[in-house]
Amino acid sequence: MGRLVQRKRLKDKNKMVKVDVLCDVQFGDCGKGKVSKSLIARNKYDAVAKYNGGSNAGHAVWVGDKKYTAHQLTSGIYYSDCDIVIGPGCVVNVEKFLKEFNDFDKEFDLAGRVFICDNVHIVTEDHIEQETKESKIGTTRQGIGPAYSDKYRRTGLRAKDVPELAPFLLSRWMGDIESYDNVLMEGSQGFWLDIDHGAYPYVTSSHIHPAHAFTTFGLPIQSLGKVYGVGKVYETYVGTSDDIVKATLDDEELIRKAGSEYGETTGRPRKVGYLDLSKLITACNMIGVDSLVLNKMDILEELNIYKLWFEGLLYEFNYASEFETFVRSHIEENTDVEEIFFSGNKEKVIEYEDYE
Ligand code: IMP
Ligand code: MG
Repeated sequence: MGRLVQRKRLKDKNKMVKVDVLCDVQFGDCGKGKVSKSLIARNKYDAVAKYNGGSNAGHAVWVGDKKYTAHQLTSGIYYSDCDIVIGPGCVVNVEKFLKEFNDFDKEFDLAGRVFICDNVHIVTEDHIEQETKESKIGTTRQGIGPAYSDKYRRTGLRAKDVPELAPFLLSRWMGDIESYDNVLMEGSQGFWLDIDHGAYPYVTSSHIHPAHAFTTFGLPIQSLGKVYGVGKVYETYVGTSDDIVKATLDDEELIRKAGSEYGETTGRPRKVGYLDLSKLITACNMIGVDSLVLNKMDILEELNIYKLWFEGLLYEFNYASEFETFVRSHIEENTDVEEIFFSGNKEKVIEYEDYE
């Protein structure tokens, strides 16, 4: 029931599936979940696929007054005509996946619209145990590194080996995705946690760069549509390094409290720093961001703290408008980003529809 192979349609062979990509441009926790949700409403994606990561991720989304947190599923949950696909670049914790599926299914009827590629690697109890023994970099302790290690050592267990996942499995992926017209690929974590581009070893074990969506799903890069980037007007990082984000201790504490900067997966307090605009510009250029959302402007407004780093110097502004103008003009001058939106947290969540 609802298997993609049964939905496959005859179509013009030259007409490729259109793939947009959504990528966090900082260290994760910038609000990809809600941006993805509003993009589904705007762009009418028929699938939102995840191309890296596992239960280390945590997407919090408000629906009315209720907060939902998804870890292994995407914001496709909230739209009955949108499928959710977990791609080969991800790793899956079976027990947590089944629990998350069942919990969301009660409210959002997920039957027939959640799929896991059969070559996705599985996180085992043993992987999680390995991490409780050694986590010098402050991982989320979800067994992510050990699971990817086994994948690349070619000793891993895959979704096709797990009977409980049989109802969700997708094979012949290349053909299946072509039965969709319009797909959003969602990266987990943030660009500066990419295994190649982040401050190794304070990184995750997968690629966050959007190109990874194409290698891992086996899609021609010509099918790329738009690249959406998501950041925040300040930075947060969870892990043991003390050099990754920078702010005064007072401001750090104020912003952490006002912005509820505690991990969705681990509950750990996030380290907080002022926006590093140079780093943001670099990320936008490396990623190829077309459209950028900067979240949590309402938190800075509540506190009246408008500070950022640019080319190693600390800049301080008196008003939100000055801060926004500085950020906007430097991004416009130094990148090919075409549209920049400043968004609030809960109250003033961006609704892309408003901008059309
Ligand atoms: P791992 O992905 O659990 O191996 O953790 C590696 C690093 O990435 C640690 O610093 C984690 O705190 C960070 N990390 C992993 N997933 C997320 C996420 O979804 N949001 C923010 N940080 C993350
Ligand atoms: Mg998160």
